[in-house]
Amino acid sequence: MNLSNVFLVLLSKVLIIFFKSRTIKHILKLSVEEKKKFLLKILNENQRYIDIEKEEYSDNNSLKFIQNYNQLPCTIETRKKRADLLEKNGFRDKEVLLMGDDDLVSVELALRNFKHVTVLDCDKNLLNKLKILTSEAKFPINFFHIDLNHGIPNYLYKLFDVICFDPPQNSKDLDIFLHSTFKAIKYSNSSFFMMVNSSAIGEKELSKIIKFINNSGFYEHNKIEFFNCYPLNKGQSILLSFISFFFKSIKKNKNFINCRYYFTDCYEFKSTVNLEISKDNYDLKTHDENISSKYIKDISIPIYTISRP
Ligand SMILES: C[S@@+](CC[C@H](N)C(=O)[O-])C[C@H]1O[C@@H](n2cnc3c(N)ncnc32)[C@H](O)[C@@H]1O
Repeated sequence: MNLSNVFLVLLSKVLIIFFKSRTIKHILKLSVEEKKKFLLKILNENQRYIDIEKEEYSDNNSLKFIQNYNQLPCTIETRKKRADLLEKNGFRDKEVLLMGDDDLVSVELALRNFKHVTVLDCDKNLLNKLKILTSEAKFPINFFHIDLNHGIPNYLYKLFDVICFDPPQNSKDLDIFLHSTFKAIKYSNSSFFMMVNSSAIGEKELSKIIKFINNSGFYEHNKIEFFNCYPLNKGQSILLSFISFFFKSIKKNKNFINCRYYFTDCYEFKSTVNLEISKDNYDLKTHDENISSKYIKDISIPIYTISRP
């Protein structure tokens, strides 16, 4: 290992202390080679994005995002693309679960009259804000205050046709979100959308994850690279731009690129069971649905106001 790589390893160990986000911690822990691969991909996409001069990306500044919950809200364009994807796939009448929603996708789905949308999140303030933003929805949205670290409650078992999630980008959290998905999703004719930056997770780790998904009865139906774009905050942006200075090959190809955005791919997985729901599963579903309506939590509306998108 050359001197600059040794320095990068040591620097990463120090920087880990200052960043609360588990996504950033995970990136700092990647090997030198993995970091380089990840940065090359991200910087290329940043260059492309900045070149086409999109107009402003995010209206989420009015909300305070919490690093402890690994929140990194996407651009408005990304939020709309996610809703388009769900709409084009014919999920407007289906049971949709958004597992975590700092991206405000539920607001977009409410505007498009999706009929059965449920949102769960560990951030109560975010849920309160979402409740206000969707208060005029034709079809009311269900909100649950749930921390997936404690597992998904029984009353949400096997209820959903579609689940969409954007987990913190590290294998431990991804595992937690996936276990919850397999408990909440229906047995057959179901799909889930997982937003992951494959190079941030690391190839080896990702292939283990895909294997676990396959063993759980789902196959990869589609992968859309760089589907999601997230504006970085100043600290995150400086960090990634700074680390890229350590890689000669990156410096050679690019003049200085200000790393302003993070990107993830969109993976769509479909259930391998596409039969009519069996009698047993049907009974289970209706039983759980009855329970679930009893547990729908009323989120109290906070006094402060926030700007509408
Ligand atoms: C994980 S964040 C987005 C992460 C981002 N894409 C990244 O790159 O790190 C998405 C949503 O999940 C919620 N969330 C995070 N951890 C959670 C948990 N343990 N249980 C429930 N929701 C969680 C956050 O509050 C946020 O609204």
